[in-house]
Amino acid sequence: MRVLVIGGTGKTGSAVARGLRAHGETPVIASRRPSGPDQVHFDWADPGTHDAALRGIDAAYLVAPALVRDPAPRMVPFIDRALARGARRFALLSSSAIDASMPGVGAVHAALAARAPEWTVLRPSWFMQNFSDPQHALGRELRDERTIASSTGDGRIGFIDAEDIAAVAVATLLAPANAALVLTGPEALSYADAAAILSRVLGEAVVHRALTRAAWEAHVIASGMPADYAALLGALEQAIAGGAEDRVTDEVLRRTGRAPRSFEAFARAAFAAAP
Ligand SMILES: NC(=O)c1ccc[n+]([C@@H]2O[C@H](COP(=O)([O-])OP(=O)(O)OC[C@H]3O[C@@H](n4cnc5c(N)ncnc54)[C@H](OP(=O)(O)O)[C@@H]3O)[C@@H](O)[C@H]2O)c1
Repeated sequence: MRVLVIGGTGKTGSAVARGLRAHGETPVIASRRPSGPDQVHFDWADPGTHDAALRGIDAAYLVAPALVRDPAPRMVPFIDRALARGARRFALLSSSAIDASMPGVGAVHAALAARAPEWTVLRPSWFMQNFSDPQHALGRELRDERTIASSTGDGRIGFIDAEDIAAVAVATLLAPANAALVLTGPEALSYADAAAILSRVLGEAVVHRALTRAAWEAHVIASGMPADYAALLGALEQAIAGGAEDRVTDEVLRRTGRAPRSFEAFARAAFAAAP
């Protein structure tokens, strides 16, 4: 099976490509800056790159373009084009906060469920890697200031390791669920809980800064996030404060046969050796 892995240079996609190779499948990594023989030029914003990327493709892992509030006008026509060219199987990376009734990636979810013969929508909770990714405001602040800013109050989140999301993606590219799966880690934690675990692992105090929604949005905009995307995430932060993400599911274990990694295990792997 030749699988186009959109986002294949990113956190989940690179692990999806590795996992597919381990199962003897052939990932074709889509990137705006391709390098190497297993990569193909692909840009959601440039439909002129789409047909060539789809050549000989049986299945696709779909990651939305970064920081675009409504990616559906780019992604839905691409799915139609992929189906017309013979691709049958799709795994879409969405979010635990987004279902098929919502605009944006929710509309892509709805289109996939209606049109694709074999599909899975992955709805993961917030990624543990946000804490270790220097591209992410959270990761940068933790690294530089040992602080974590949120407007989620005491609200808890079922943080999940990107490797566990990728493992489910691989499992469902091999055996589609024809369903949407809410994916979480093994426990729901507040950002204050996460700060306590990180303090222990790092051996120095990590402080959770509890901001208002407006202050948090201003904070992430100042760190470079587009204002409309910050507003979208600000609404999600508010929903978390109200308990919307306070849950865990058993989908990682069910789909992969292994339990999801805990936040503490993630933190030890990501930070124990850090200076
Ligand atoms: N972080 C979280 O807590 C969280 C939670 C739930 C859902 N999500 C969702 O996860 C997704 C991000 O996944 P990730 O963390 O695996 O990726 P990532 O590490 O953020 O990397 C982004 C990937 O998307 C590709 N990309 C970005 N813009 C593109 C464009 N215009 N055309 C083609 N490719 C593009 C990049 O490829 P190149 O740079 O090589 O082109 C890169 O491989 C987002 O849709 C986000 O909403 C995140």
